Amino acid sequence: MSTDDPLDVADGGKATAGSLEGGAEQEVRHLPVMAGEVVATLAPRPGSLQIDATLGGAGHAERILDATSPDGRLLGLDADPAAIIRSAARLARFGARVVLRQVNFGELVDVAPEAGFGHVDGLFMDLGLSSFQLVDVERGFGFRAGGRLDMRFDTTQGRPAADLLATMEADDLAALFRKHGEEPFAGRIARTIVETRRHTPVDTAEKLAALVERAVPAPKARRTHPATRVFQALRIAVNDELVNLESGLAASLVLLRPGGRLVVLSYHSLEDRIVKRFMAAEQRGCVCPIEVPVCICGHQPRLRSLGKSQVPSNEEISANPRSRSARLRAAERVAA
Ligand SMILES: C[S@@+](CC[C@H](N)C(=O)[O-])C[C@H]1O[C@@H](n2cnc3c(N)ncnc32)[C@H](O)[C@@H]1O
Repeated sequence: MSTDDPLDVADGGKATAGSLEGGAEQEVRHLPVMAGEVVATLAPRPGSLQIDATLGGAGHAERILDATSPDGRLLGLDADPAAIIRSAARLARFGARVVLRQVNFGELVDVAPEAGFGHVDGLFMDLGLSSFQLVDVERGFGFRAGGRLDMRFDTTQGRPAADLLATMEADDLAALFRKHGEEPFAGRIARTIVETRRHTPVDTAEKLAALVERAVPAPKARRTHPATRVFQALRIAVNDELVNLESGLAASLVLLRPGGRLVVLSYHSLEDRIVKRFMAAEQRGCVCPIEVPVCICGHQPRLRSLGKSQVPSNEEISANPRSRSARLRAAERVAA
């Protein structure tokens, strides 16, 4: 899902969230992004073994299981315990064809073989957060969330974002906002956080969003909330997202059979750059420096491109504005 605008509430995937923004009980849905393109590119065949490394509301997983009927199997992962519970209910009709694990996909290379998915035909990753997480005020992902600023996908471990804001030095906070958010006013925002926390803790999403809005100059035209980049940076840091993405991508080389496909949906330039570089590097043969006349690296291509990256149609963006920043990249494992 897009991190562009955590104010929106998306649709699709059906569940009732516990503590919603505004306190209202309402049906929350998460529409699977580019679902047609994902299934067409992954091309899951009946009887095949597939991994969905980011179950969320299991919208994509359900389609992949339908496409692999009657006997294809799917290993579904999510770091978020609530996503596993939700997905188990949605996928119950597939019975023993589904195996679910609450785990970070950074551990995929160990988890998949243990679950009987050591050699698979497809690996799908839909990065970022789901609508269920976004609207839950206890999680702190949305700008208006009044609960504690948490932002962990896996609520059972790690440090909530509020802890980082309470303890990090201004220089370190600024570096984080620059590195993971490409935030132009990083220093100014970091200093305002440190000044503010001397008398008032910056411990909710609502307080942080208001603080950033005060700290930065008002933009001439506003497409996104001024705190978007700061929220993105904190979320990436709290979940160590980019490191886990590198590990998850590397696992595809071990787990995919020749002809098996890797399909990744990313939502901002930092994650897309990692996916793009990984796929490009693994499509190359020799990676010796240019001044070396004869290859000494022995590097062989391990992936084959499945064409240019894809973006959602205008119709999908109108129906589901959250899909607007999505980019799909795909590659196929080739035999060594
Ligand atoms: C965009 S949602 C997936 C939505 C899903 N494709 C659907 O159709 O409902 C991303 C999910 O990935 C999970 N996630 C993000 N990073 C993860 C990681 N490193 N390991 C495991 N799960 C992760 C989040 O908790 C979230 O539930």
